[in-house]
Amino acid sequence: MAASDEMKKAAAEAALEYVENGTIVGVGTGSTVNFFIDALATKKDDIEGAVSSSEESTARLKAHGIPVFDLNAAGPVPVYIDGADEINEHGQMIKGGGAALTREKIIAAVAEKYVCIADQSKMVGILGKFPLPVEVIPMARSYVAREIVKLGGDPEWRQGVTTDNGNWILDVHNLEIMKPMELEDKLNNIVGVVTNGLFAARGANIALLGSPDGVKKYEF
Ligand code: A5P
Repeated sequence: MAASDEMKKAAAEAALEYVENGTIVGVGTGSTVNFFIDALATKKDDIEGAVSSSEESTARLKAHGIPVFDLNAAGPVPVYIDGADEINEHGQMIKGGGAALTREKIIAAVAEKYVCIADQSKMVGILGKFPLPVEVIPMARSYVAREIVKLGGDPEWRQGVTTDNGNWILDVHNLEIMKPMELEDKLNNIVGVVTNGLFAARGANIALLGSPDGVKKYEF
């Protein structure tokens, strides 16, 4: 296994400590979360089930025999476990590299605690080197792109990708995000934007970052 995968796997397995028996677990999306789902399978008889942020994660959960609940029918979600494309020292993140940002943001909003799992390379000083994903209603794509240019970004349509919600993604390049909450709000205010991948207002509570020296824990 590649060293970066070893670090992701270690972070994912460390997150099991935050899973409470008898509860519904919020499950994110991505390669790190896939390791978490595999680890969660060892505890499947102790939990009620999961709510899932993507069709991809749902399929993996079900393949392990873990019940997946509709969020509207689920009770409280004490913890949401998900990765990040970038995370800063305040627990604010860029997410959506896997195009699952909208469902991820919804479950993150519902959950009491967000535990971010990743390898150490995701920790950055300033967010924005990773292109910021923005999910848009398809007919609004060009309009939203023009509005994003006015905000100083350089949007690129992620052609060929349709989200689980039937929408499209613009990846915004060349941003140096000094005020993440402000930018999150501004992007949300553009008509036609469904969600943007800045998780600033609701960031992580805990980050478990795999490193060559073991898993490092950060609390925000
Ligand atoms: C999915 O849409 C993203 O938000 C993921 O959480 C993010 O891309 C991290 O993925 P990896 O664990 O594969 O790096």
